[in-house]
Amino acid sequence: MSHDVRALIDEARAAAAQSHAPYSNFPVGAALLAKSGKVYRGVNVENASLGLSICAERNAVFAAVAAGERAFEAIAISTNAATPTPPCGACRQVLLEFAEDLPIHLAGKSGVIESTTLLELVPRPFRSYKS
Ligand code: THU
Repeated sequence: MSHDVRALIDEARAAAAQSHAPYSNFPVGAALLAKSGKVYRGVNVENASLGLSICAERNAVFAAVAAGERAFEAIAISTNAATPTPPCGACRQVLLEFAEDLPIHLAGKSGVIESTTLLELVPRPFRSYKS
């Protein structure tokens, strides 16, 4: 792995401090490393109209894409859960739009880092509706 996993987790953890999660009290921070070398942070942003809440991972992807990025090296996700929390299905699908496969590093409260990949989490992905 050519990227610095610990540094990316630290970015995700720093991001989580900016989370807006007054309803779930479950702050999430994501740090998405682009092939350009830049890191894009995302946090979950909840809303009183609960269904409008959005996950940290998607906010990181959208920030990166808005900045012109299309190729990614890895993502780190940090929560305060007892065990590391993998991304939800919606976020997995959004990541698949821009990555064939992607290393995913997860950190919970304990500080133990779990590493997996997008294709491990989504073994048979939907990629195109074109035949
Ligand atoms: N959440 C994320 O930010 N990422 C995920 O992959 C799963 C869930 C957020 C959404 C909501 O704000 C809170 O965690 C509880 O579900």
